[in-house]
Amino acid sequence: MSSEKVLLPANVEPVRYDVKLSPDLEKFTYDGEEKVSISIKEATNTVIMHAKELSFWSCTCKHAGGNAEAVEIQVNIKETTVAFVFSEELKVGDAVLEIVFGGLLNNQMAGFYRSGYDDIHGNRKIMASTQFESLDARRAFPCWDEPARKCVFGVTLVVPSNLTAFSNMPELSCNSLPGGKLKELKFMDSPKMSSYLVAFCVGEFDFVQDMTKHGVLVRVYTPPGKGVHGDFALKCACKSLDLYDDFFGVPYPLPKLDMVAIPEFAMGAMENWGLVTYREVDVLIDPVKASSQQRQRVCTVVTHELAHQWFGNLVTMDWWDDLWLNEGFASWTENMAADALFPDWKMWEQYSVDHAAAALRLDALRSSHPIQVPIKHAEEVEEVFDAISYCKGSYVVRMAHAVLGRENFQKGLVSYMKKHQYGNTVTADLWAAWEESSGMPIGEMMKSWTEQMGYPVLKVLGSSFSGGKATIELEQKWFLSDGSEVKADEAKLWCVPILTATSSGVGDEIHMMREDKMKIVVDMGGDAGGFVKLNAEQQVPMRVCYDDEMLKRLVVGIKGKLMGASDRAGVLADAYALVKAGMMQPGQLIRLLKAYEEEDDATVWEALEGVLGGLDKATAENDFINGGVKKIGRDIIGKLVAKVGWDAREEDGHLDKLLRGTMVRLLSVFCYDEEGVKKEAEWRFAKFLEDAADMQALPSDMRSPVFKIILKNGGDAAFADVKGYYDTATDNAEKKHVLNSIGSTTSLKNKLAVIEWTTSGAIKLQDFFYAIGSVHRSSKEGMELTWNYYKDNFERLKEMLGKASASLMDAVIVYSCGGFCSNQKADEIEKFFEENPMPQNQRKVLQTVEAMRANAVFLGLLENSELGDASFWKSL
Ligand code: BES
Ligand code: ZN
Repeated sequence: MSSEKVLLPANVEPVRYDVKLSPDLEKFTYDGEEKVSISIKEATNTVIMHAKELSFWSCTCKHAGGNAEAVEIQVNIKETTVAFVFSEELKVGDAVLEIVFGGLLNNQMAGFYRSGYDDIHGNRKIMASTQFESLDARRAFPCWDEPARKCVFGVTLVVPSNLTAFSNMPELSCNSLPGGKLKELKFMDSPKMSSYLVAFCVGEFDFVQDMTKHGVLVRVYTPPGKGVHGDFALKCACKSLDLYDDFFGVPYPLPKLDMVAIPEFAMGAMENWGLVTYREVDVLIDPVKASSQQRQRVCTVVTHELAHQWFGNLVTMDWWDDLWLNEGFASWTENMAADALFPDWKMWEQYSVDHAAAALRLDALRSSHPIQVPIKHAEEVEEVFDAISYCKGSYVVRMAHAVLGRENFQKGLVSYMKKHQYGNTVTADLWAAWEESSGMPIGEMMKSWTEQMGYPVLKVLGSSFSGGKATIELEQKWFLSDGSEVKADEAKLWCVPILTATSSGVGDEIHMMREDKMKIVVDMGGDAGGFVKLNAEQQVPMRVCYDDEMLKRLVVGIKGKLMGASDRAGVLADAYALVKAGMMQPGQLIRLLKAYEEEDDATVWEALEGVLGGLDKATAENDFINGGVKKIGRDIIGKLVAKVGWDAREEDGHLDKLLRGTMVRLLSVFCYDEEGVKKEAEWRFAKFLEDAADMQALPSDMRSPVFKIILKNGGDAAFADVKGYYDTATDNAEKKHVLNSIGSTTSLKNKLAVIEWTTSGAIKLQDFFYAIGSVHRSSKEGMELTWNYYKDNFERLKEMLGKASASLMDAVIVYSCGGFCSNQKADEIEKFFEENPMPQNQRKVLQTVEAMRANAVFLGLLENSELGDASFWKSL
């Protein structure tokens, strides 16, 4: 694998950079001067570095043989490199390159780029900041832009005297330049680090600050006037930094940590060392308006990025094929820390529904990929910032934690951090650390999950219950979402840790399944008539297919809430996936749903929402079955509404608020036309129109679904009211409520107006796909509209997004072309992308099309099942 990587030549190694940049925020350009200390390993007359969209004025080299001037500067646009060719040979030894160059402050949210925003007085302002991961440090200054080429960075910025500027490290000096209009800010040397983690920002900001218990100065920079909106993130950051110091056993090595809200940002956030950048909605919390969902999001984004300060920044993957070491690990840690900060959020229960579902959905496709994915050209990495690296990656870490136990798990991490700090690692280094801390052959187990794609379904071949024990015969098989046949030469095996739960709790014993079949015996803990739940707490990424007897017992456990929320949610999510794959009868799933009639747990309801919503979507074109699904949905949602109600209660906790949000979301899909629901939504919306700050009548968690109910029942006036809020809302999170719901407007004319609005320039490039998605999700016509719009405006969309991060185009593809339930649509979409290839998004297209075909299989299964008979629905 490693021999295939495309890397810069190793004859010259960088040691330190001194980069000085002078941005012009009016002309959108900058001048750059850079000194790179290098070590010449083999005499050469050419030095090759990465560079993209830069202009070069000169390059000289002081080396052991004297001073050399580059006589030729060859820019290779395709390889994003620059070659400096010298008239004489550079001698082996230490040398210094001096490069003079210039660049553009682009508006593509990558490299050194500009953002526009309106300040509190309504004046248009410009700020500049950076986004380098994965390959855009080269877009700001020439460098060896590879994660293993770690160096010390000394950054200097020349900026207008009235602006603030910062970088990874604290300011070292600040000098006013002749004329008084500009100042030169020099920052302290960074530790040895990878180029993708370098960052700087220039603009006007407010900030809030605090000191961690361990003495790190933390600041949150916000747009002027919004300082208090940084308070929540600041608290999360201070607490989690202290927690990580202890957890990883190596203290955060920099004297400060800045976190900045950037007006235009392609991703959610970026972990630059000492200078974490965020999309505004992912860091700012309006203390009055913010929903519980937003608070949770901000907390987990902060804990995720701060986890990277260790996993990623201090210890970095050697090459992008181990990206999961960064993202999977940070995604595990994000939950661990949020759980420690807010135990009542029950993060791990939520994890087993949200992250787990995303991992298992994607990894059940043949177009998935292994966690450890071969990356030849670095550009391929953009495509693997996906649910495999993040969600399956964190899922296997969770599994390791379950098998190792907390103590061995943590001990291993501490020695891994100490051993590899300021260095680079491969996945095997992590296994080695855990093997040493635990004495267990954990690498063998983990490899089976990280080196091959997919995951198993554990099928119960038979079970018997006697003498207070259950004997269960199991088989493992590669699980594919469409149930397609696994040919003999495709067979895979995993090393599966089997954890079990019974009505007396989660058992201590872990059975290791290494072969395709295995028999286990489970002690029922004194409750001979009780249940055995496999994959206790859903800690292993797999599905379980029970036999009738075990399922019958589980139903009793679900009804009586005798098992935890993760397990109740897990049985349901597995059942749904098994039905799609043809391994369980649809009628059984519908009957299972009835077991959740008394359910009032927020997390289990999230799983229920997934299943009910999925069934509703899949059967949209079959009125008979859809009618049955809608009725079941209404019945069970109605019971929840009766219990939970619309009004916030004094004693409500975080999860109660989330639950009410889920409930109203479900109402907006299943019950939007019921009189009682309409009335509730209408008076709340009327209050909101009078005063948008009235969070009592219309709490934030409900805004987007209530807007949907209003839009679905209203005409042009409702549309104008909701859309109008986009213009008057000053908070981005509030604007997002509009973007997420606006497509629910019923008239085709208005839906089309939404789509056109999204690409008119009125909505930021970072956000416009949300509104496309809302049209797409709204109805069958909505789906057709967005797909046609995508085709018809393909060139324009490409032009808009071509140079920005590939993840934005991925989002547009999924939000405008995904989700159909027919083979014909799959063919059509496949053909379109064959004729209009998008190499950077190819994997996403493949996955989208494959998921569509699986949906079509699913619909066929439903139509040919007892769900098509009136007698089935009557029997419920
Ligand atoms: N390192 C990533 C940011 C990133 C993503 C860079 C894709 C290049 C390509 C960062 O740590 C991250 O994972 N951000 C997430 C949010 C996080 C809470 C899951 C994001 O931006 O969505
Ligand atoms: Zn990350």
